[in-house]
Amino acid sequence: MKFFIDTANLAQIKEAQELGVLDGVTTNPSLMAKEGITGRNNILKHYVDICKIVDGDVSAEVISTDLKGMIKEGEELAELNEQIVVKVPMIKDGIKAIKYFTDKGIRTNCTLVFSCGQALLAAKAGATYVSPFIGRLDDISTDGLNLISEIRHIYDNYDFQTQILAASVRHTMHVIDCAKLGADVMTGPLSAIEGLLKHPLTDSGLAKFLEDYQKGN
Ligand code: G3P
Repeated sequence: MKFFIDTANLAQIKEAQELGVLDGVTTNPSLMAKEGITGRNNILKHYVDICKIVDGDVSAEVISTDLKGMIKEGEELAELNEQIVVKVPMIKDGIKAIKYFTDKGIRTNCTLVFSCGQALLAAKAGATYVSPFIGRLDDISTDGLNLISEIRHIYDNYDFQTQILAASVRHTMHVIDCAKLGADVMTGPLSAIEGLLKHPLTDSGLAKFLEDYQKGN
């Protein structure tokens, strides 16, 4: 299972990279705005800065909603660095754009996916990644994890190569549940990754080991 961090915050990306388990980064326009990164040139520069920190894939989202605009933006993003994966929204022109990029060898991440039908279309168009937003489904009393399970089932039926990127992961249990269900990737906040470290028996056990070591010295 790949671990992506879902942020545009360079300090957090560095911290996750230093942990040694980071496989990539996902961003979106809201995450960029949260870091105060605005304007096309600043946003493009920020993607380049992120690519310098991590070794893996970096999803960069198009803003256009028409095919021509998405193609222009996506090609510009893909030119920035070979790590860039063009993030395209799940809309009609988005599917056309994903097919176009797939045929050109440009990798894509189909975002804002909330149903099996949408995930099926993304796979048919050849998306590299499909991003079901589990947290946002949970927010409206719909089981986000169930969607991961159903997409896994459908993709396995036909051996689709599109990777299931569980997005809108909010906490550590989401990470563990996504792993149980066979998501290929999860993207979430640093806190969800660091939560995997925690167990009180690890803390008390280590404290005892260190105490006993001191007694013998
Ligand atoms: O990767 C998608 C993600 O950024 C959405 O997360 O927490 O805004 O639903 P959230």
